[in-house]
Amino acid sequence: PVLVVDFGAQYAQLIARRVREANVYSEIVPHTASVADLLAKDPAAIILSGGPSSVYATGAPFVDPALFEAGVPVLGICYGFQAMAAALGGTVAQTGQREYGGTAVEVTSAGTVLSGSPASQTVWMSHGDAVHAAPEGFEVLATSSGSPVAAFEDRARRLFGVQWHPEVKHSPLGQKALENFLYEGAGLAPDWNAGNVVAEQVEKIRAQVGDARVICGLSGGVDSSVAAALVQKAVGDQLTCVFVDHGLLRSGEAEQVEKDFVAATGVQLKIVDARDRFLRALAGHTDPETKRKIIGREFIRVFEQAAREVIEEAGEGEDVRFLVQGTLYPDVVESGGGEGAANIKSHHNVGGLPDDLQFELVEPLRTLFKDEVRAVGLELGVPEGIVWRQPFPGPGLGIRIIGEVTAERLDILRAADVIAREELTRAGLDRDIWQCPVVLLADVRSVGVQGDGRTYGHPVVLRPVSSEDAMTADWTRLPYDVLSVISTRITNEVPEVNRVVLDVTSKPPGTIEWE
Ligand code: XMP
Repeated sequence: PVLVVDFGAQYAQLIARRVREANVYSEIVPHTASVADLLAKDPAAIILSGGPSSVYATGAPFVDPALFEAGVPVLGICYGFQAMAAALGGTVAQTGQREYGGTAVEVTSAGTVLSGSPASQTVWMSHGDAVHAAPEGFEVLATSSGSPVAAFEDRARRLFGVQWHPEVKHSPLGQKALENFLYEGAGLAPDWNAGNVVAEQVEKIRAQVGDARVICGLSGGVDSSVAAALVQKAVGDQLTCVFVDHGLLRSGEAEQVEKDFVAATGVQLKIVDARDRFLRALAGHTDPETKRKIIGREFIRVFEQAAREVIEEAGEGEDVRFLVQGTLYPDVVESGGGEGAANIKSHHNVGGLPDDLQFELVEPLRTLFKDEVRAVGLELGVPEGIVWRQPFPGPGLGIRIIGEVTAERLDILRAADVIAREELTRAGLDRDIWQCPVVLLADVRSVGVQGDGRTYGHPVVLRPVSSEDAMTADWTRLPYDVLSVISTRITNEVPEVNRVVLDVTSKPPGTIEWE
C-alpha cells in the first residue's frame, strides 16, 4: 500500500481518498509508528500528511531520518514537508507571514511532482512556519511570498515535498501533483479498483470462514447490503441474512430488501415480521430517547432470537461462528486503527449481543470509504436504489413522528415521505442532498380549507440538508418550484396532512433529525 502518515490534522483521510481516486490503494498510519513498523507494511510509497504543530515546538511529531534511507519514495505535504526538510538538514523557520487559503506560487522548475503545471498557479496553503533552505541534494521547485521553498525534490532518492495541500479541491492542480508523485515519482500503476477489491475480499472471506455458517443482519442500508453481497459472493449459501422488519422503514424499503436485493444477489434471507411487536413496545411513549432505547432493545431481542433459529436450523456439528458487519474505514481509523479498538466499536454497532451468542466478526468493508463501498456495491449488482440510499437512522420513522408512534401515523408519514422523495428524484436533486427527513408533527393540528370544507390536520416538515459527514449541515436551498410541487402533492394526496413547512435551520444549532 501507499502509507499516509497521519500528523494529526483532518487531512490524512482526505489524502488517502485522493490516492485511491488515483486507483492506488492507500492506508492511514499514526505518526507514532516507527520506521520499522512502516517498513513492515511493505509500503510502495509514503506520504507524510499535514498537521497542526510547528516542527520546532516541544513534543512536535518527529520524522526519523532513517525513513529516508529505506529507498521508499516519500512525499511530504505541509507539516510533513517541513518535518522532512528539518529531518534532512534543511532550515524551517517562522516567517512572520502566515499563508492561509488560496495562495499564488511560482514554479521555477517543474520537476516530477509539478510536471505539466503552469509557471504560476493557485494552491491551498495553511501554515505559519516555512522552509527557508532545502536540504542538501534537493532542488527547489517553487516559491511563494511566504514560502521561500514551497516545493522541492531529490529525484535520485525519490523524495518529494510541497508546502501546500494538493489533496483539497481548492488546489486545482492538486490531484495532478499527487498522481505525478504516485505514477512518475514512485512508479506505481493505477490498477486498484472496485473489481480488485471484490476479488481480494472474496479470497479473504473464504480464508477466514472456511465452511462455517455466517449470519448477517440486513438493515436495508448501503453498508450491510454491500457487506452481505460480498460475503454471499464468497461463500454462497453458507450465509443467512436476517432482516428484521420493524415497521419503521419508509415506503418500498422492505420490499427493496425482500425482493430486489434477494433477486440481485441470491442471498438466503430470513425475514422476521416484527411490526406489531415494535408498535406494542412503542405504545404510549413520546420521549425521543425512550423511543430510541425501546427500538434498540427490541431490535436486539428479535435479532438474537432469529440468530438462535439460524443456529438451530444449521443442525448438529454445523458451526455458526461468524457475524458480518458493515464497518467502514473511517470507523477503523477513528477508533485508533488497531484491530482491538476497532472491534470494540463493531461490537457496539451490533448493539451488544448477549455473551452466549459469541461471534467472530467478518468485516469486508473495513478498508473502504463510503464512496468505494458504493462502487463495490454496483460492481456486485446491488440495486441502485440501495447503493445510493441516503443515510437513514436505525430507529427509522420512529423518530420522525413527533409524539407517539402508531400504525396510522406511520402510514401518513410514509405517504408524505414517498412523495417528497419522488419529486426530489424527479428534479435530479438526489446527489445534491445529503438527506431529506420528512417529519410528522403528529400532536400538532392546524386549521385549513379544502374544497368547501374546513380541515383540521397535521403539518409535515421538510428537512433537506447538505452535508459532508452529518457532523455539521446546512439546509439545502431547494428550488421553489420543486417545493411547490411537493407541497401541492402532499396536501392533495395525503388527506390527514393540510400543511407543509420547510425547516431552514443549519446544524448546529439544529440537529438533522427532529428527535
Ligand atoms: P442528527 O440528527 O444527530 O443526525 O444531526 C446525524 C446523522 O445521524 C442519523 N441519526 C441516527 N442514526 N441512529 C442512527 O443509526 C440514531 O438514533 C440516529 N439519530 C440520528 C441522522 O439521520 C443523520 O444522518
